[in-house]
Parts: sequence; C-alpha cells; structure tokens
Amino acid sequence: MWVRRWAAKPLVFVLCLLPALRLAAGAFGLLGVDLGADPVKLMLHTCGNWALKFLLITLCMTPLRDVTHSIFWLRFRRMFGLFAFFYVILHFTVYLVLDQAGKVGALWQDVIKRPYITIGMLAFLMLIPLAVTSTGKMQRRLGRRWTTLHRLIYPIAILGAWHFWWQVKKDIREPLLYACILAVLLGYRIFKRRDAIAEFAMARFRKTNAV
Ligand code: HEM
Repeated sequence: MWVRRWAAKPLVFVLCLLPALRLAAGAFGLLGVDLGADPVKLMLHTCGNWALKFLLITLCMTPLRDVTHSIFWLRFRRMFGLFAFFYVILHFTVYLVLDQAGKVGALWQDVIKRPYITIGMLAFLMLIPLAVTSTGKMQRRLGRRWTTLHRLIYPIAILGAWHFWWQVKKDIREPLLYACILAVLLGYRIFKRRDAIAEFAMARFRKTNAV
C-alpha cells in the first residue's frame, strides 16, 4: 500500500481537521484565507455540512469492510464518528455564540418555533451519549448494550439529513444527494439483516395471534 498502515490514522486525522483549520485561518485572517461577505453563515454551513458528511462516512465503513473483506476500514469508524460530533459542536457553537449572540433564550425560541432546528437539536443531543461511550473501555463495560446504544447513529443520520432538507428553500439537489446516499447505506443494512428481520416479524405475528 502507498501509505504505511501506521501512518494512515494520523494522515486521516489531519485530513478530517482541514475544514476546521481553514475556517480558523479565515477567522483569524491567516494564510490569506477569506471567509467572504458573510463569515458566520459560511462557518455555520461548512460545519453543518461536514457534520453530516462525517455521519455518512462513518456509516460507509461497515459496507466497505464487507465489500473488500478487510477490517482495515473499521479502524477509522470511531474517528469519523467523533469528527461528526466535533463538527456538530462547532456548528452549534457558531449558531449559539455568533448567530444568536450567545442568547440561550433566543436559541430556545428557535428550537420551539423552527422544526428544522428542533430536529437538528434532537440529533445533536442523541450524539452526546454515543461520543461519551465511544471509548474501548465503555464498549467493554456496556457489552451488548453498547451495540444497541450505538444503533442511535441511524436515527441521528436520518434527522441530520432531514434537518438539511427542511431548511433548503429551492435547490434541493444537495440534501437530495445526501438523502439518497443515506437510503443506500440504510437499505444495505436492512438487506443484510433481512432474514433476522423476517424471523423477528414472524415471531411477533405468532405471539400476537396466539390463542
Ligand atoms: C447532528 C446534528 C446536525 C447536523 C448533521 C446538521 C447539519 C446541517 C447541515 C448539513 C446544514 C446545511 C449546510 C449547508 O447549507 O451547506 C445545516 C444548517 C444549519 N443548521 Fe444544522 N445540523 C445539526 C444540528 C444543528 C443544531 C443543533 C442547530 C442549532 C441549534 C443547527 C442549526 C442550523 C442552522 C441555523 C443552519 C443554517 C440554516 C440557514 O442558513 O438557513 N443545526 N445543518
């Protein structure tokens, strides 16, 4: 391989950090980076966009493992998930501190009044337990419950894609693309577990129809 295995993780880590570093350079007027006429909007959109991208990238790791028959991809899954969380925190912070001038009351009003903010907030809150329990130690401690908890990634990704879709006024091409990618990633999982799902449905059917 052209990248040595030990170098892959640090390299991917730096690559994942680049969008945030670019924004930081622009915010501090470094390296000639310009954030344009509306820097707050650009920061908000860039972080939201990368948060969603990282959620989808995280969900790509298992299908990649299956297709390539290599567990190489799973080494990056936690890192990508944590980067999704990192960009959501930045996204939320830009929104609260720069867009709403740090007014928690204004944020709360938005959460109540604007449905796309409500679902964004819900996705953000649901990501917190996943980030907190992302360590190997927590994985061992929680055992099977860890796997169940981390299935929250699916509704989180759905809420994230929906949040994007809902706020777009005219051009739905980008949110549509993300929604399609997500549909393929979730569809793949349903297809993989079709036997178990059918068995579960049959068991439920038998139970509810038992005399
Ligand atoms: C998992 C959680 C979240 C994800 C994945 C996410 C993702 C996104 C995406 C993809 C965009 C559009 C970016 C673009 O136009 O390129 C966006 C915009 C936005 N998000 Fe989020 N977001 C999340 C949580 C939140 C939260 C918690 C808030 C605020 C409480 C929020 C507030 C906003 C706002 C205000 C916009 C810009 C809307 C506009 O300019 O019309 N988001 N978000």
